[in-house]
Amino acid sequence: MNLPSLADEAPAEPTGTPSPSDDDPLWWRSATIYQIYPRSFADGSGDGIGDLAGVRRRLGYLKDLGVDAIWFTPWYASPLADGGYDVADYTSIDPRFGTLEEAEALIRDALAVGIRTIVDIVPNHISDQHPWFQAALAAGPGSPERGRFWFHPGKGRDGAGMPTRWESNFSGETWTRTTNADGTPGEWYLHLFTPRQPDLNWNHPDVRRMHEDVLRFWFDRGVGGVRIDSAALLVKDDALPEVPEQPGPGEHPTQDRDELHDIYRDWRAIADSYPGARVLVGELWLPDIDRFAKYLRKDELHTAFNFDFLARPWDAGQLRQSIDATLRAHAPVDAPSTWVLSNHDVTRPVTRYGREDSSFAFAKKRAGTPTDLAVGTRRARAAALLTAALPGALYIYQGDELGLPEVEDLPEELLEDPMHFRSGGVDPGRDGCRVPLPWSGVRPPFGFSPAEAGSEPWLPQPADWARLTVQAQQADPSSMLWLYKQALRIRKTLNRASATAFSWRESAPDVLAFDRGAHFVSVTNLSPHSIELPDSAGILLASSPLENGKLPSDSTAWLTDTATI
Ligand code: NOJ
Repeated sequence: MNLPSLADEAPAEPTGTPSPSDDDPLWWRSATIYQIYPRSFADGSGDGIGDLAGVRRRLGYLKDLGVDAIWFTPWYASPLADGGYDVADYTSIDPRFGTLEEAEALIRDALAVGIRTIVDIVPNHISDQHPWFQAALAAGPGSPERGRFWFHPGKGRDGAGMPTRWESNFSGETWTRTTNADGTPGEWYLHLFTPRQPDLNWNHPDVRRMHEDVLRFWFDRGVGGVRIDSAALLVKDDALPEVPEQPGPGEHPTQDRDELHDIYRDWRAIADSYPGARVLVGELWLPDIDRFAKYLRKDELHTAFNFDFLARPWDAGQLRQSIDATLRAHAPVDAPSTWVLSNHDVTRPVTRYGREDSSFAFAKKRAGTPTDLAVGTRRARAAALLTAALPGALYIYQGDELGLPEVEDLPEELLEDPMHFRSGGVDPGRDGCRVPLPWSGVRPPFGFSPAEAGSEPWLPQPADWARLTVQAQQADPSSMLWLYKQALRIRKTLNRASATAFSWRESAPDVLAFDRGAHFVSVTNLSPHSIELPDSAGILLASSPLENGKLPSDSTAWLTDTATI
């Protein structure tokens, strides 16, 4: 057994301008992409906040895990009013995370071990501290500076009525009133999220130019792609109508507007002008999967997150339906599907799958929903193999490979997420899936910060995470980490042999069984009892031990009939 060392690894020496290699232009079609929330991955500086130095030292872990790329949630200078999705400067690194030189070195070091970097671009809104917004506030109504945003007079004689009744994605209102230089109430400005995140006006040439420059800035530094935040929201209907009760396709005033496609065509041309297949990944929460697929036409985005699958409950019929709909919608545009179990916005799978209602929706998040973590963990293991076996790209949110649960008892005074506060505390918020990772040792900070620093992690880790540390799991073949490592290794071989092949096998309705090419079968048992596996099959990997040769409930097995798949 060859266990990788947990010791900090010395970052490599710089080796010149990084550029992803051109050898594998289709890398993104079946890549495994690991999402890093920098604040919570690993702390190199010892202040209790994760940072780039911490990530650089853990590159060996990521390589050993077997990922092809890492996606960083925003690492830019930011007041962190929304965990970094309030960017004050798109081309500098927040000092809490490090420096631009460190980011460049990280991109280079990662490439040297075969891992591409994806950065997060936040084009819909900006921090209220960004110089553009500050200038707009100072310049006053009618000024060119205000033209980059959505400033608007209020309704009624005194302008006290909001321009629209649009509802914020974070509950509550989408308009905030400004105060004029003389202290009188002024115009309103639009923010689909918090007031600290004013929306940009994508009809303005400065806004387009600035983002195109930002793309080039990061592509010039060797990143392999960008994840586009809130990608369906950028364009608004400038007549500012109310949201129709049942908006038809393209009729929503702030979502999925047809003009968006031109923006992404321009971005694609920029990405394609770089060597080494630089990819555009959209965060598109859209109910209509065919509208969703339009963004993946060959001159637009490369891929987008499959939130339909993420939101489904642990139910064979529901998951089968989602897989079918996904594959059907992606085929005509020849785009690869993506498979995502979680991210920094949603409830951790181990917790969600242990609940009676295991579907996900922001609107129904409630604190205190009971969960059975043993059941949830078992299902999360089965789901990990199910998703890793499907054709397309796979996203893993940091800590899911350790089976971390959602931390649901964080002290109220430590919570930061505006979703929690804007819902009046009804929504528990997203802090619970952002708790710093446990690396080693038996008590907090579990190796998250260097031992000698004596600092506490920015969010407290549960005391019982000792059994979930990387160190503990590396020594335990029954751990989630082992399962992930084996799965990613086999997945690589599988995708090399048959990247797109997929066909369902006949099975009971509560079993998901499919072939990937001639020699690989994946079987997930969502029924309450054990099931027989197909005849004469060799087991490559199983998410739970078989019982008398049968696959137990809530488990996945991968089977092959040859030595090589
Ligand atoms: C989606 C991001 O994933 C989320 O974390 C953020 O709060 C919103 N977009 C707003 O930027």
